[in-house]
Amino acid sequence: MIKLSMIEVHPLKAFTDNYIWALVSKESIYVVDPGDPNPVINFIENNNFTLKGILITHHHFDHTGGIKTLVDKFEVPVYGPKGGHIDGITNELVENDCITVLGESFKIYEVPGHTLDHIAYYSDSHQKLLFCGDTLFSGGCGRLFEGTPDQMHESLNKLKNLHPETLVFCTHEYTKSNLDFALVVDDQNDYLKDYSLKVKNLREQDKITLPSSIKKELQINPFLRLDSKNIIFNASKHASISISNEIETLKTIREWKDNF
Ligand SMILES: [Fe+2]
Repeated sequence: MIKLSMIEVHPLKAFTDNYIWALVSKESIYVVDPGDPNPVINFIENNNFTLKGILITHHHFDHTGGIKTLVDKFEVPVYGPKGGHIDGITNELVENDCITVLGESFKIYEVPGHTLDHIAYYSDSHQKLLFCGDTLFSGGCGRLFEGTPDQMHESLNKLKNLHPETLVFCTHEYTKSNLDFALVVDDQNDYLKDYSLKVKNLREQDKITLPSSIKKELQINPFLRLDSKNIIFNASKHASISISNEIETLKTIREWKDNF
């Protein structure tokens, strides 16, 4: 459990490595990306909480599969990307929209790349919180299933420029495998080497590695460190190409990671 001034954030495990984030204030909760309804229902019933709403980041089933069951049972608003392609969305959101969640204001960022419809939720009203789905992971970023390297680059730039103290709530426990790759592509990064040992230790005890922070990601995440001479050198060498800008670095290391 992560205790904040107004909202507490709890990870609810789902499938093999998903986290459904539950935002709790007093007895009220919102959940982010409930791919499976059962961990949410159990959490609500065990604590006598009242579900007030659902936040969706993108259309993939492991983020949306629980909407219908939860809405049938609790009749709550469902916020998510515009387009009408996700069943159950009641409040469609676009860039710069603001919504109130448990008394706190959240701003919407459109962050295409992993999918074209991907959005992120950011609050800096009391504690700085980012719910970024499968766009930014600790030590990595989402696969480019629908978007281009150019789009992902722009999306990650929006996130990396948020306040450094922002807590980053990603939807998957991918940190260890991301850092195994980061250690190869960013092999001169001493902070990364130290941090990867901490992550290895946490995972050996089956402990969560999230939330991260923007400050930490700027130090360990190669997809936010595209101007690093060491990363550019390693990416160029790996792909046997000459790299001239950050988008080419991102494209190269994303493809490298896809086959790592
Ligand atoms: Fe996804």
